[in-house]
Amino acid sequence: MTNRKTPEQLRSARWFAPDDLRSMGHRSRAMQMGWDDEDWTGKPVIAVINTWSDLSPCHHHLRDRAEFVKQGVLQAGGHPVEMPVHSFSEQLLKPTSMLYRNMGALEVEETLRSHPIDGAVLLGGCDKSTPALVMGAVSMGLPFIFMPAGAMLRGNYAGQKLGSGTDVWKYWDERRAGTIGKEEWMGVQGGIARSYGTCMTMGTASTMMSIADGWGLTLPGASSIPAPDAGHKRMAKSCGRRIVDMVWEDLTPDKIMTEASTRNAVTVAMATGCSTNAIIHLIAMARRAGVPLGLDDLDAIGHTTPVLANIRPSGKEYLMEDFFYAGGLPALMKELGNKLDLSVMTVSGKTLGETIESAVNYNDDVIRPLSNPLYHEGSLAVLRGNLAPDGAVIKPAAMDPKFQTHSGPCIVADSYAELKEIINDEDYPMTPDHVLVLRNAGPQGGPGMPEWGMIPMPKALLKQGHRDMVRLSDARMSGTSYGACVLHVAPEAFIGGPLALIRTGDVIDMDIPNRRLNVQVSDAEMAERRAAWTAPEPRFERGYGYVFTKHVEQADKGCDFDFLTTEFGRPVPEPEIN
Ligand code: FES
Repeated sequence: MTNRKTPEQLRSARWFAPDDLRSMGHRSRAMQMGWDDEDWTGKPVIAVINTWSDLSPCHHHLRDRAEFVKQGVLQAGGHPVEMPVHSFSEQLLKPTSMLYRNMGALEVEETLRSHPIDGAVLLGGCDKSTPALVMGAVSMGLPFIFMPAGAMLRGNYAGQKLGSGTDVWKYWDERRAGTIGKEEWMGVQGGIARSYGTCMTMGTASTMMSIADGWGLTLPGASSIPAPDAGHKRMAKSCGRRIVDMVWEDLTPDKIMTEASTRNAVTVAMATGCSTNAIIHLIAMARRAGVPLGLDDLDAIGHTTPVLANIRPSGKEYLMEDFFYAGGLPALMKELGNKLDLSVMTVSGKTLGETIESAVNYNDDVIRPLSNPLYHEGSLAVLRGNLAPDGAVIKPAAMDPKFQTHSGPCIVADSYAELKEIINDEDYPMTPDHVLVLRNAGPQGGPGMPEWGMIPMPKALLKQGHRDMVRLSDARMSGTSYGACVLHVAPEAFIGGPLALIRTGDVIDMDIPNRRLNVQVSDAEMAERRAAWTAPEPRFERGYGYVFTKHVEQADKGCDFDFLTTEFGRPVPEPEIN
């Protein structure tokens, strides 16, 4: 690689090199931590951005992995510094981790900007951590590598393979239907999360790590290595070695996150049978990189990209561990062939084509060839109509195909509490043709757009043997979820989208092949209802929630803060050093 940086050009040199008062202060305080001339002279300072915490089970191993990254940095002649950021614990954060994705991104961006850092390795993987880390680092613009936390081992209970989330929903339905008891339920509880690492279905975590890999932001294939595999430690060390070279090569994210590589990332997402959450994060990440990406682009790529990864919840059988043994993401990308632009650059310093050249598919039932896909179109579809003028999303690959076209009267709940009463009331008048609607669960209404969109099946219908029905909301759903759930309806009800105006009994028409979503209510009647509608009180009057309320965008724009997108204003200047 030509045009290597000189030591004097290192960003950190601005803090440590000058012979002046301020720099003497920086060096003196660095010496207080045990640094010496050797540490700051001519060596890239590498931030190991760590989302480890005692309350983040998916990132439980990242304190250990940070040590391996640091070893790699030292081996390559850099100076590593570990910097903790928000941990994004999907299961334990309330009201929802999505409320904090943008806060985390802002924290990463400003942590990198304000310190003497030349490059970064980002450690994360649990759902929102990947987009938050990438969004922040891209906005800062320093060379970085995303080091995926990796998926946990397969779950196991009573000889059954268990998939994160997916099997929780499945067994919960059976428990509510009365077909399993407390003992089995407790067995699932103890067997479904057997090691550190992220959910091991193709949920949001695995989807987002795969997307980062497909975008060229991880070392090749890193996203598929299970967290407890010894190869994961070796990969961490390699990240440390490689980032030092990336700094010298000045391989900044704008050279990697191009329009072509963004299309690759979307194609990979669709071929993995991705989580619906990926739609929101892809749009947000692309916009941070200055690449315009909208719902229609995603739908168009989805139309021509088959699902190749036979992983739950789109697939019936396999999990991320199986995907790794089958060859992982490099093998899947090789199967995609000319659907990807192989000329794009990756953090490895090689083109995507070079990185997957030697990939092998060891199990063509797990990673299907294009000639035998799991599902002929991409896993997601974007719907529009008078109920969702700015779009809504559904995952046809993970639902009962009989709902491809459907009309039915709706039952509307204004809150999750009201919804719970309806689905648990066995005498509530309802049939499997009804459409269950939850509103006020979007970015502003949730608040933070919680994962309530896989509305649990009503108890009475479960007992009749039904396991799917059309459900609709302005919420998101977990990537491990499944069912005929229309999500991300935009604009959301809380800000007066058409969803706010429908009433129980209105008939909703869904037509997935033609991408339509309408309510059978005339324009005149909708206008009358709108005139009578009053906006709810904002959810927050102070604190971070207030900033969120003022600035969060709708789902079709990626739910970023308006002031953090590239379109908003001039780039933030470098901090003055002296
Ligand atoms: Fe962390 Fe699923 S809860 S990845």
